[in-house]
Amino acid sequence: MRPVHLRAWERLRHAYVLEVPHRAASTSIAPGHPLDLAAVFGRTAPLVVEIGPGTGESLVAMAAARPEVDVLAFEVYLPGVARTVNKLHETEITNVRLLQSDAVDGLRNLLGPDSVQEVWTFFPDPWPKVRHHKRRLVDRAFAQLVAGRLRPGGLWRLATDWADYAAQMRSVLDAHPALENVGTTADGWSERDADRPLTRFEQRGIEAGRTVRDLRYRRR
Ligand SMILES: C[S@@+](CC[C@H](N)C(=O)[O-])C[C@H]1O[C@@H](n2cnc3c(N)ncnc32)[C@H](O)[C@@H]1O
Repeated sequence: MRPVHLRAWERLRHAYVLEVPHRAASTSIAPGHPLDLAAVFGRTAPLVVEIGPGTGESLVAMAAARPEVDVLAFEVYLPGVARTVNKLHETEITNVRLLQSDAVDGLRNLLGPDSVQEVWTFFPDPWPKVRHHKRRLVDRAFAQLVAGRLRPGGLWRLATDWADYAAQMRSVLDAHPALENVGTTADGWSERDADRPLTRFEQRGIEAGRTVRDLRYRRR
C-alpha cells in the first residue's frame, strides 16, 4: 500500500472492517463465533453477502443504491479491502461491513442457515488453466454452502466473462435441487442487472473479446 493509503487505512479500518477469531492463516475464520448481525450493523435488515468485491467498485455503488439492506463482504486481498474502505468513507454509506477473510470460512462459520437474502459473486477468479480449474470458487460444495445460507426465496447473483466457467456455474447450479434458475433470458442466462456497474475486471474481459454472462438463482 502507498503511504497515503496506509494512513487512511489505519484511521478508517475500525469503522468498516470486522475482526474475527481466525485459525493459523490470517484470512481464515475460526468456528464457534457466529456474528451478531444486529450488533454489527446496529439494526435488523435483510442481509446481502458479497464474495470477492476486489476494490469495491460494485459493492459501494450497489450498497449505496440500497440503503434498506445490510451488506457483508468477504475479500482476502488486503489492498482491495483498504481501497474499499476509502470508497465507503468518501460516500459516507453505513450499511457495509468488510472482512479480510475467506468467504467459504465466513459463510460456514459466521452465518447461520437461511440467514442471507442475497449473495453476489461477480467475476470470481477465473483460473483459466485447466490444471487450475479445481481452484475455482463456484463448485458443487460451494453451491451447497450458499444454498444452505440463503433464505427460501433468496437470490444468488453471479457474473463471469469466462465461457467455460459460466458453463461450469450453469451445470453445477442448474443441477442443485435447492436452487431454481430464474435467469431472465430464454436460454437460462440473465440480462445484465441495471444496478451492477462495469468494473475494471469486467472492462478488461470485454476488451479481450470475452462475453460476459450474468446468472441468477433463487433458493427454493
Ligand atoms: C477477479 S476479482 C473480481 C473483483 C470484483 N468482484 C469485480 O468484479 O471487480 C476476484 C476477487 O475475489 C477475491 N477472492 C478470491 N477468492 C476469495 C475467497 N475465497 N474469499 C474472499 N475473496 C476471494 C480475490 O481476492 C479478488 O479480489
